[in-house]
Amino acid sequence: MPAIRFYKHDDIPMEMHKVKVVQQLNLLPVDQRLQKMKDAGFNTFQLHNGDIFMDMLTDSGVNAMSQEQLAGMMKPDDAYAGSESFYRMVDKLEEIFGIGNCLPAHQGRACENILAERFVKPGNCVIMNYHFTTAKAHITRKGGHVEELVKDEGLISKSDLPFKGDIDLDKLEACIQAEGADNVSFMRIEAGTNLIGGQPVSLQSFKDACAIARKHGIVSVLDASLLQDNLYFIKTRDPECADRSIRDICREIADQFDIIYFSARKFGLARGGAILVRDDELFHSMEDLVPMFEGFLTYGGMSIREIEAMTVGFDECLEMDVISQGPQFIEYTVNQLDEYGVPMITPGGGLGAHIDATQFVCHIPQEEYPAGALTAALYICGGIRGMERGTLSEERNADGSERLASMELVRLALPRRVFTLSQVEYVIDRVKWLYDHRDMIGGLRFTHEPATLRFFTGRLEPVSDWPDRLAAAFKDAFGEDQ
Ligand code: F0G
Repeated sequence: MPAIRFYKHDDIPMEMHKVKVVQQLNLLPVDQRLQKMKDAGFNTFQLHNGDIFMDMLTDSGVNAMSQEQLAGMMKPDDAYAGSESFYRMVDKLEEIFGIGNCLPAHQGRACENILAERFVKPGNCVIMNYHFTTAKAHITRKGGHVEELVKDEGLISKSDLPFKGDIDLDKLEACIQAEGADNVSFMRIEAGTNLIGGQPVSLQSFKDACAIARKHGIVSVLDASLLQDNLYFIKTRDPECADRSIRDICREIADQFDIIYFSARKFGLARGGAILVRDDELFHSMEDLVPMFEGFLTYGGMSIREIEAMTVGFDECLEMDVISQGPQFIEYTVNQLDEYGVPMITPGGGLGAHIDATQFVCHIPQEEYPAGALTAALYICGGIRGMERGTLSEERNADGSERLASMELVRLALPRRVFTLSQVEYVIDRVKWLYDHRDMIGGLRFTHEPATLRFFTGRLEPVSDWPDRLAAAFKDAFGEDQ
């Protein structure tokens, strides 16, 4: 996005695309939203899309596609084996990342399943800058455990550090010594750490961490699902990279790693996933897992149409005009709310704007899921669907006690090319109202708690009648029809 400057207005982020296909939105009145939230067990994953005004749950698989992607979907080479669409995708990935060994999988967590199957043995450790829910679940399912070595500063919510996703190199060396290199299945660096606010990793940190892994003979794995945001931040926040092209930065990052995987629901602006494996022998040792779990090696559970759309999407994820919209809208949202006093994760990262629920609703104990409660309150007060990224998104310890998350976040995702700035203004306005009425929000407790990934399908209830009182206050302020 070129920095478009205004004459009589402060500069604002600009959409560098125009809308050609639309979906009508529906804003239910507050009383109906209250009922829908109750019906959904106070879990925003359980809402129906038709009852949502601003769907900011995720950017996964819901980014708007370009006309070029749609055109690509019109020329799929459908075949069980040997599809030319697959080979086109592999060529594109090799052009971008310099690795031609590609294992297709239907989405990011399917890649994580294959990696865990291949590498994790009971008692093994997987090192990460920070975990992602599904990545961790696959590792613990195989009897491994995760060590998170992000720098301490990365967990401080209000900050001006440009790269809060960096791994702590001293902790990395110490962890390898303590675990023993042979017991480390692999080191996974998430480019753009989802659960701590989409915070980026610096180019230097990628290089340093991979050098340490290499020295100890540990396989290095890049989770590139959020790489496009990370690339934008390296170009705009690292003065040494200001004049480099996105492709060039991308290639230098890729060159550090043995394995790269991604969810193409994010990287690729479509729906799919893939694992790239540099070493031929290692690649061949993983091939049999794809037909077992996903589908034949030239489609990996994906529709061939999506493969064509992904191939175009990869190029778009390396275009500044495309990848700047998310971070710039996020920065705008974060700065507006921060100025108002709303506790936000700063600086704004990728994926979405993140509210620090620990401070927003500091009266709610972590055991009553403050971020989950705030997410429910935001739907009631605006028809806005965010995602809890806190203790609810963790799994219990083996002894049944709660594993309290190091951050309690409400994520307001900004899928690419989907929302306009006036819609973002609406969200900012409703969050401000809720912040001024934050004392009214109370906690939640489970009525149905699944053992694994409980945030997807769990059901909860409020600890008091706070949702009814909050909805009544909202009605007093805005009227019944809002
Ligand atoms: N890695 C990262 C960093 C992710 O953000 C995700 C998904 C995955 C892996 C798994 O990919 O969904 O295709 O299976 N993140 C989504 C989100 C779910 O909403 O943040 P997937």
